[in-house]
Order: sequence, then C-alpha cells, then structure tokens
Amino acid sequence: MYARIIGTGRYLPEKVVTNADLEQLVDTSDAWIRDRTGIRERRVVAEGQTTGDLAEQAARIALEDAGVKPSEIDLLIVGTTTPDLVFPSTACLIQQRLGLGECGAFDVNAACSGFIYALSIATQFIEAGTVKRVLVIGAETLTRMLDWSDRSTCVLFGDGAGAAVLQADSEPGVLSTHIHANGAHADLLSVEVGVSRGFLAEPRGGLAVKMKGNEVFKVAVNTLGRIVDETLAFNNMEKHDLDWLIPHQANLRIIKATARKLDMSMDRVVVTVDKHGNTSAASVPMALDVAVRSGRIQRGDHMLLEAFGGGFTWGAALIRY
Ligand code: COA
Repeated sequence: MYARIIGTGRYLPEKVVTNADLEQLVDTSDAWIRDRTGIRERRVVAEGQTTGDLAEQAARIALEDAGVKPSEIDLLIVGTTTPDLVFPSTACLIQQRLGLGECGAFDVNAACSGFIYALSIATQFIEAGTVKRVLVIGAETLTRMLDWSDRSTCVLFGDGAGAAVLQADSEPGVLSTHIHANGAHADLLSVEVGVSRGFLAEPRGGLAVKMKGNEVFKVAVNTLGRIVDETLAFNNMEKHDLDWLIPHQANLRIIKATARKLDMSMDRVVVTVDKHGNTSAASVPMALDVAVRSGRIQRGDHMLLEAFGGGFTWGAALIRY
C-alpha cells in the first residue's frame, strides 16, 4: 500500500511586503536581500489573522482539488511552529471548521521541516493500513514572532500555508520518507521563549527568532547534501532518475547548492523563495502546489522534497507523482 498525493492547495495572506518596504524599517537594501537570499517580497498576515485561518483556506483548496469530501478524511496533521494557541492544537481548531468529523488531529513542531515530518507520519499511517485518506498541512505565521528591528532575521521570513491530500493506493505514491534531528546546535536557530521557560520575561512575551545565519547556512548545505544521498540510495536511484527538486525555500544560494549536488539544472528546481520568503513548514507544500498547478510536474514524474530547519531538523521525501 502506498500514499499518493491526490490534491494540493496553498493560501497566502494578501499583504505583500517588499524589500523596499523593509528598507524603511532596518538598515538593509533590496540589493543585499536579493543577492544573499533571492527574496524579493513576502506575504504578511493581517491583524487578527492566524495560522489556522491560512491552514483552513489551503486545506479547502486541496480538498476540492482532490475531489474528496471533508467527511472522507481519516486523519489531519498540521506542521507548524506558530500555532494559534498552545492548545488546542491548530489541527483541532480547524478540524470542525473544515467539517472533518472526529478524525485524529494533531500538530507537529519540526520548524521548517514540519511538512516533511507530517508527510512522513501520514505515509506511515497509510502504509500500515490504519487510515485511507490524510490531510497534511504546513502553515505558519512566522512574522508574528520576528524582531522587526533585527535585520539579520526580519528580512528572511514570510507567512503562508500549503496542503496536500494523501490517499491509499496500490500504485506509488510516496516511495520513501526520511526524517532526522540533532538538538546539539539549538543555540544557532531558536525562539528562546516557551511556556515553561522565559515566558513574558521580555516585551512581546520575549518572542523573537534568533539565528546565527552564517553558521546555519553551512550546516544546512552540508546536511541537505547528505539527506538527498540517503534518499536516493534507499530507493536504489541515481541523480539522473530525478525529474524535480522541491526544496525548502530559505535561501536561493542553499537551493542552488543542493541542485548542483544533484547535477540538476535550475529549470528542474521549483523556486518560490523570491515571492514567499522563508515560510518555514509552509514552504515545501506551497512550492509543490505552485509546481503542480503550473502543469510542469506530470503524473509519473519523480520529485524529491527536502527541508532543513530549527532543531536542527531535516528530512526528505521521494515521490512518484
Ligand atoms: N541587510 C544588510 N546587511 C546585512 C543584513 C541585512 N538584512 N543582515 C546581515 N547583514 C550584514 C551582516 O551584518 C554582515 O556584515 P559584516 O560583514 O559587516 O559583519 C554581512 O551582512 C554578512 O553577514 P552574513 O550573516 O555572513 O551573511 P550571509 O551571506 O551568511 O547571509 C543569511 C545571511 C541569513 C541570508 C544566510 O546566512 C542564510 O540564509 N542562512 C541560513 C538560513 C537558513 O537556511 N535557515 C534554516 C531554515 S530556517
């Protein structure tokens, strides 16, 4: 039994923030941001708009695309590191709004790798025969916890949500998923405030993404190189067997390094970082949806999804579309 993607969707908040807008906030320039990251603009949630709101919209589009009724979903998993509330989980908050009935529903926090982790869990449930259809979402409002006076982080992130409906099928499908973590370098990329540590000790509850970007960059390039090797080896496949790379959208230079490692030309790589910025767990499913809807990815194509993020966490999925 395999898990097949039968529908995708994405939802972006309306407000566009350009690099020029950020020049008004911090000592930065459009040229620096484009050269170092590839980002031109990002979307930012409206006052009162939540991660769950974005997730719900992306999910509705994915369900319609799949031609699946909400009541036919057996499991809902939301990858997010910016939940609406501590609890109930964002999955529980949107379950009833989507009309899913009483299926299992939970969030996964693996930072930018959240969707890959959620996809991996969904795949195990389907392959075990426990459930038939899973709604998997990656949704984030990272801009809610940015320090808008810190130019080393505030230019990088954006908000959005992407969703996929997976269904049990005798044809592949997800060929394999691979997830990893290493908490040894938690200090390189974190929000240093949680419920049981540091809460309300500082203004805005102390929420602020802190990152030693340069060091994260090196680990990300190295780690993504290893995870693509691991994924190909597991499937007895060679680089040239891949049709598409759908990478986490943090930095165009990191994406190009992974593409080089795979000997893939950039026209086989899905890039959305220029328009979306780094949307954490939402980045891979939104890139998937963009690629599928553009008609570029055809049924039967092999695509490699990968992500790297806070934790550190990282993962990959090899999918025959
Ligand atoms: N505008 C202008 N200058 C900036 C800037 C900004 N927004 N942010 C940093 N700088 C400056 C730095 O202060 C530094 O100045 P100095 O040389 O005078 O000290 C210079 O630019 C270079 O900084 P550095 O951090 O070395 O740049 P970089 O080339 O590594 O790019 C990142 C920074 C954050 C874009 C990059 O390191 C990165 O993408 N890291 C990984 C992100 C990631 O993958 N995260 C994982 C998933 S969340």
